[in-house]
Amino acid sequence: MEKSVELIELENKYGAHNYHPLPVVLEKGKGVYVWDVDGKQYFDFLSAYSAVNQGHCHPRIINKLKEQAEKLTLTSRAFYNAELGKFEKYITELFGFDKILPMNTGAEAVETALKIARKWGYEKKRIPNGEAIIVVCKDNFHGRTTTIISFSNDDEARKNFNPYTSGFEAIEYNNVDALKILLEEKADKICGFLVEPIQGEAGVNVPSEGYLKACEELCKKHNVLFIADEIQTGIARTGKMLAIDHENIDADLLILGKAVSGGAYPVSAVLANDEVMNVIKPGQHGSTYGGNPLAAAVAKEALEVVLDEKLAENSEKLGQIFRNEITKMAEEFELFKSVRGKGLLNAILINDTPESETAWNFCVALKDNGLLAKPTHGNIIRFAPPLVITEEQLHECLSIIRKTAEEFKK
Ligand SMILES: Cc1ncc(COP(=O)(O)O)c(C=O)c1O
Repeated sequence: MEKSVELIELENKYGAHNYHPLPVVLEKGKGVYVWDVDGKQYFDFLSAYSAVNQGHCHPRIINKLKEQAEKLTLTSRAFYNAELGKFEKYITELFGFDKILPMNTGAEAVETALKIARKWGYEKKRIPNGEAIIVVCKDNFHGRTTTIISFSNDDEARKNFNPYTSGFEAIEYNNVDALKILLEEKADKICGFLVEPIQGEAGVNVPSEGYLKACEELCKKHNVLFIADEIQTGIARTGKMLAIDHENIDADLLILGKAVSGGAYPVSAVLANDEVMNVIKPGQHGSTYGGNPLAAAVAKEALEVVLDEKLAENSEKLGQIFRNEITKMAEEFELFKSVRGKGLLNAILINDTPESETAWNFCVALKDNGLLAKPTHGNIIRFAPPLVITEEQLHECLSIIRKTAEEFKK
């Protein structure tokens, strides 16, 4: 305990206060488990915001990381490297696209997709220069850059970071008519529609069945790029390799990040077909680390693990069990209003006002009982364990959640 207090003090004193972590200091991880500096073991139900779908320190991914780190880590894209092409072939074939543009963080990949969409808008769709519009959804979360927060409606994320980037119009999420009306009015200036298949940060908002398909069809009809941000929902998290696979959608621009590398290294990507991707020419976009050999080798291995271990199937099956069991608990405990989600991306809605501390306090109590989860917005707690979790482990976790709910009754 003393060790934790000291380390928390260090972070508080020397680090910017841009996060509000639960009071636990982790030093080790394996599969679904993490351990704090005092040796206490926890189930990780955040998975680094769904970056660690393959489980902590997956031996195949870590071995690949070590092996490649001893050979070659960074060349920049001034030269070709021996790993990038192999990764590019693998990931484009896996997701059915002609090309990939590799980056590092999620926000960078979103920025990349926005730039490609605008350039395509001017050069292919012939939108008058400077007038391109990208449609986004209210309550979105796409990252933290100045442009991305420009089209957020979360005051916390945007206040006093102005002036903002223009060229974005926000419509209500899960409202096909809102998109239809906007496209009918301004389609000749709209180059893209950027959407999260499930809004993770907003509290695991799952849209109605058919919403995404209807949006895809509207985009096709109006020659607008359908841009799927699968940074959080992708890589088997929702029970399919991509969340848009639930509705058989072909995105024009697919944005991936987080679990692409299984938590071992920051890797993100934008995928598109030639007609769209070829608007980018040498010198027009890039990143020193983007597509480096270490990233490429690690990401290829991490994706192979997802397929070899059938993590999408496990996520689908265990997600059902999780929601069924929490639904039963919601009948028993007043504390739980409901549960929602897909695969192993779920959230429990807590029966209290958004301003109350109940969700936070419940997460602290869960931590004390050996399970780590974190509130998203208001009184909503996201539950997203590594997808390597077994059915037996899941039942153990459900017992912890039940026990903690019982403590809250008193
Ligand atoms: C849907 C979505 N897009 C983008 C991002 C930003 O990714 P990063 O934090 O790697 O920049 C996130 C991160 O939570 C996300 O959930």
